[in-house]
Amino acid sequence: MSPEPLLEIAGLVKRFGGFRALDGVSFSLGPGEVLGLVGPNGSGKTTCINVISGLYAPDGGEMRFAGRPLGGNAMHRRARLGINRTFQSPRPFASLSVRQNVELAAFYGHAEGPRADIPALLASLDLDSLAPRRAEDLNSAQQKLLDLARALATAPRLLLVDELAAGLNPAELARMAERLRALARGGMALLVVEHLLGFLESVTDRVIVMNAGREIFEGDLSAAVRHPEVVRVFLGSDHAG
Ligand SMILES: Nc1ncnc2c1ncn2[C@@H]1O[C@H](COP(=O)(O)OP(=O)(O)OP(=O)(O)O)[C@@H](O)[C@H]1O
Ligand SMILES: [Mg+2]
Repeated sequence: MSPEPLLEIAGLVKRFGGFRALDGVSFSLGPGEVLGLVGPNGSGKTTCINVISGLYAPDGGEMRFAGRPLGGNAMHRRARLGINRTFQSPRPFASLSVRQNVELAAFYGHAEGPRADIPALLASLDLDSLAPRRAEDLNSAQQKLLDLARALATAPRLLLVDELAAGLNPAELARMAERLRALARGGMALLVVEHLLGFLESVTDRVIVMNAGREIFEGDLSAAVRHPEVVRVFLGSDHAG
């Protein structure tokens, strides 16, 4: 792990009414590191991304980014700070083109510094031939790529991805894994929520396993799948393998 974490989270709590979707989550993540977030449906993975990205305000705990407390800033401000995310169900501007969607993100979400090279970004995600197409005409795998392009257009230092691999075929999965590793090699910190264990194995440096809003394991994926509580939590789940 990096000696100076980019993201530090301690005792994070998020309540919906009386229900604790996050019940004291703590971890840290350094530049160039890929942390997987695993857990059964409803365990709080997306909520974790929603709180870190500023979509939801936490009800307790602390978050620090690049050494500074993350206060109550909203998602667009977090994007300018260098935090962006993809969505489990992407919602692009349907009637705008792929290129326009990415240009909008680059324009509104970018911090100071050089602007993203949008043609190169689209090409790197195999979206160049789709650039003039309306977002609503893309299939779901292509919409996930567009959502990733939108997030990357803001040049994040911390990227949070929520089930990006769902629906990709094996060749697309391998390409996506390589893309995420390349982003990490460039110094980006990544939090990767995913159910597919093979994909996690190829992408992550370590994983956190969540259950009912709490962390039940942190370490190597190979150790996670042998950990008794992790095995117990996943038995009976649709996503055991
Ligand atoms: N906006 C919300 N209002 C009320 N409850 C919510 C809200 N968002 C999430 N929850 C609840 O919080 C819990 C955690 O949800 P979350 O979406 O974080 O799970 P998840 O681990 O991402 O699950 P999945 O693998 O199905 O995507 C669930 O019980 C969910 O119903
Ligand atoms: Mg989710």
